Amino acid sequence: MKRVFLDNAATTALHPEVIDAMVEAMDGRYGNPSSIHAEGRAARAALEQARKTVARFIGASIGEVFFTSGGTESNNMALKCAVRDLGVVRIISSPTEHHCVLHSLEAIERSGKARIDFVNIDAKGHIVVSHLETLLQQDAGKTLVSLMHSNNEIGSMIDLDEIAALCQRYNALFHTDTVQTMGFFPINVSQTPISFLSGSAHKFHGPKGVGFIYINKENIVRPFVDGGSQERNMRGGTENFYGIIGLAKALQIAYDNMDNTRRQITEVRNYFAEQLQQYIEGILFNGDPFERGHYKVLSASFPASSKSDLLLLNLDVEGISASGGSACSSGADAGSHVIAALGGDMTRITVRFSFSDLNTREEVDFVIEKLRKLLPAAKEMAIV
Ligand SMILES: Cc1ncc(COP(=O)(O)O)c(C=O)c1O
Repeated sequence: MKRVFLDNAATTALHPEVIDAMVEAMDGRYGNPSSIHAEGRAARAALEQARKTVARFIGASIGEVFFTSGGTESNNMALKCAVRDLGVVRIISSPTEHHCVLHSLEAIERSGKARIDFVNIDAKGHIVVSHLETLLQQDAGKTLVSLMHSNNEIGSMIDLDEIAALCQRYNALFHTDTVQTMGFFPINVSQTPISFLSGSAHKFHGPKGVGFIYINKENIVRPFVDGGSQERNMRGGTENFYGIIGLAKALQIAYDNMDNTRRQITEVRNYFAEQLQQYIEGILFNGDPFERGHYKVLSASFPASSKSDLLLLNLDVEGISASGGSACSSGADAGSHVIAALGGDMTRITVRFSFSDLNTREEVDFVIEKLRKLLPAAKEMAIV
C-alpha cells in the first residue's frame, strides 16, 4: 500500500549514505574507542573525526562538542548542569518548549534550586521579546534563558542572534534547543553567543538515540552521567559509536545540501498549503508558517466536526502519516500544550504535517484527494 510520510518533525528516514557509513563502521571497527590497542585507536580516530565534523559545521572547537543519546539528554544536561555547577538560580523559558525541557524545569523547580519564569507568547507562537527583556532586567540572580530555535509542533522560530545578544547584554546564559533546526538552517556559535545548544541526529536523516550538546568553553560543568572518562569526562559510558558515525555523516549531507533542501521542501510545503486553502473549508494554520516559521512544518487547524474528529486515525488508514503534535502526543490530538499556549480555539482539530526533501507534489495531490474524501467540504457541495 502506498504510504506518504508527513511526520518528519517526529523523525526522518535514514539517508542511504548514512546507512552505508554506519555499515562500513560496523563491519570493520569493533574496537572500544577507550582502548589503547590498534582496534581501539581506529575507533577513537573515527569518533574524533565525527566530533570534528560537528564542531566545524556549527563553528565550535572540538572540545566544546559532546555526544549524547539525543535531544532529550542534551536538554536535560544543559539545564540541570547550569543549575548544579554554574550558580544559575533562575531559568527563563517559554510554555511552548518540548516536554523534555518543560519537565526538566519542573524537576529543577521541585528541587528548590532555581526559580522558573515563563516569557509571554503571542498568537503566532513567537516569544514576546520585550517581555523577555523585562524579565532579564529584574534582579533575580544568575539567569539562564532556554528557548528553542524552532517549535516542534508549529514551527515558529526565534531570531537566534537577537535573543543571544539580549542574553549577553543582561549577562544571562543562553541555552537553545536546535533539535528541529540543526542541519536545516546555518547555526554558528562562533558568531552567535550561545552557552549551550542541543542537537539530535534522527531529525536530520541520521540514526535515532544519538545527539550532541555544545557547551561553550567558558562554562565548566561536571559530568552529567558518572562513569568512565568518555567524552572528556563529561559523560561516562561507552559511546554509541555507530550512531555517532551516522550522525556526523547525516550532518555533513544536510550542510552540503542545505540550500537545495530548503528550496525543495518549501516549494512542496507551500503547494500543500495552497491546495488546503483551495479545497478544505475553514482551514487555518497555526503559528507563522510563511514568515518566521520553519519551512518543513505546516500545522493545520481544521474546524471541529464529526468528520474531523478522527482525522489523524483516518489519514493513517488511508496511508498518510502525520501527527497531532509532538511524537509523544501523536494519535491523541487533545490538549497540545503548544496550541493551548497560543490561546486559540481548542475545539479545532490540529494536524501537524512535516516535510522532508523526499516528499513530492504528487504526494501532496494524493493527500489532498484523501482529505477531500474524509472531509467533504461545504464549498464542493455548493458547486454540485
Ligand atoms: C524540539 C525538540 N527537542 C527535543 C526533542 C527530543 O529529542 P530526542 O528524540 O533526540 O530525545 C525533540 C524530539 O521530538 C524535539 O522536537
